Amino acid sequence: MTENFIEMKNVSFKYNINEDHCAIKNVNIEIKKGEFVAIVGHNGSGKSTIAKHLNAMILPTRGRVFVGGMDTHDEDKTYKIRCTVGVVLQNPDNQIVSIIVEDDVAFGPENLGIKPEEIRKRVDFALKSVGMYEMRKEFVSRLSGGQKQRVAIAGILAMNPDCIIFDESTSMLDPKGKNEVLKALLDLNKNQGMTVVLITHFMEEAVLADKIFIMKNGEIAANGNKRDIFSEFSLLESCNLSLPQPAKLISSLRKEGMDIPQNPLNKDECVDILDKFLSSKLRANEL
Ligand SMILES: Nc1ncnc2c1ncn2[C@@H]1O[C@H](COP(=O)(O)OP(=O)(O)OP(=O)(O)O)[C@@H](O)[C@H]1O
Ligand SMILES: [Mg+2]
Repeated sequence: MTENFIEMKNVSFKYNINEDHCAIKNVNIEIKKGEFVAIVGHNGSGKSTIAKHLNAMILPTRGRVFVGGMDTHDEDKTYKIRCTVGVVLQNPDNQIVSIIVEDDVAFGPENLGIKPEEIRKRVDFALKSVGMYEMRKEFVSRLSGGQKQRVAIAGILAMNPDCIIFDESTSMLDPKGKNEVLKALLDLNKNQGMTVVLITHFMEEAVLADKIFIMKNGEIAANGNKRDIFSEFSLLESCNLSLPQPAKLISSLRKEGMDIPQNPLNKDECVDILDKFLSSKLRANEL
């Protein structure tokens, strides 16, 4: 087994074997245990197709996918792979099956045939991890979108996976719900060592990740650490992706002729960069 936890090696996939069109082409992805990775790209660029490969929902037409050293082509391993990698979908309503919060979270482990006392432990742990323990007896129908999505995440956590994939899981939520879910997944990654794959259109979310893959027309157009990727303004534009707001502001100022050298990833960095830039200009009497 290699040190990579997840590997896609030269993976191409066709939904319809009789057509030329590949949903993804020659995709190579390596993810280490405990990493936080974002996959971004325009509509139809192949993000969900990648997600489906990572928990053996679909198998490569060409190439290989390994999860924890297990080849997804190996049918004996399908069940283990699906327990290892959990996927949280876009719409929590498609993932929630029970009326009461804690019953919903228990549903997955019950189906795995886990003993009741172990299920109780897992459900409590999962609900606490996403800040929903106090609401465990609540009707799911009375929850907000963000709360429902956190229950869906708890349902996956209760299956005890090593990796969670969020496929546009915040796109249907209002800003408060989005923040709740992002906070929960950052906590899972930083404090519980969970490997996280965040699939998103939102650059403000992608900057939370350590490593970023940019998809364009089924291929990886670029990958690297977020600071490098978010410095590639023209590349992002050519992939129909917007810059995070702070980077957009600095980019506009540069177009106006201000020679600001650094690229911010967030609001605080942006304020800091502007403060330093303006101070140096004042000192040099250039303002
Ligand atoms: N079930 C399917 N049957 C046939 N073609 C499909 C199917 N699902 C996706 N595709 C095609 O595969 C390509 C990649 O789709 P995919 O859903 O992976 O993209 P995506 O990046 O997740 O898009 P979105 O941002 O809209 O979620 C697209 O051309 C899409 O039309
Ligand atoms: Mg998708």
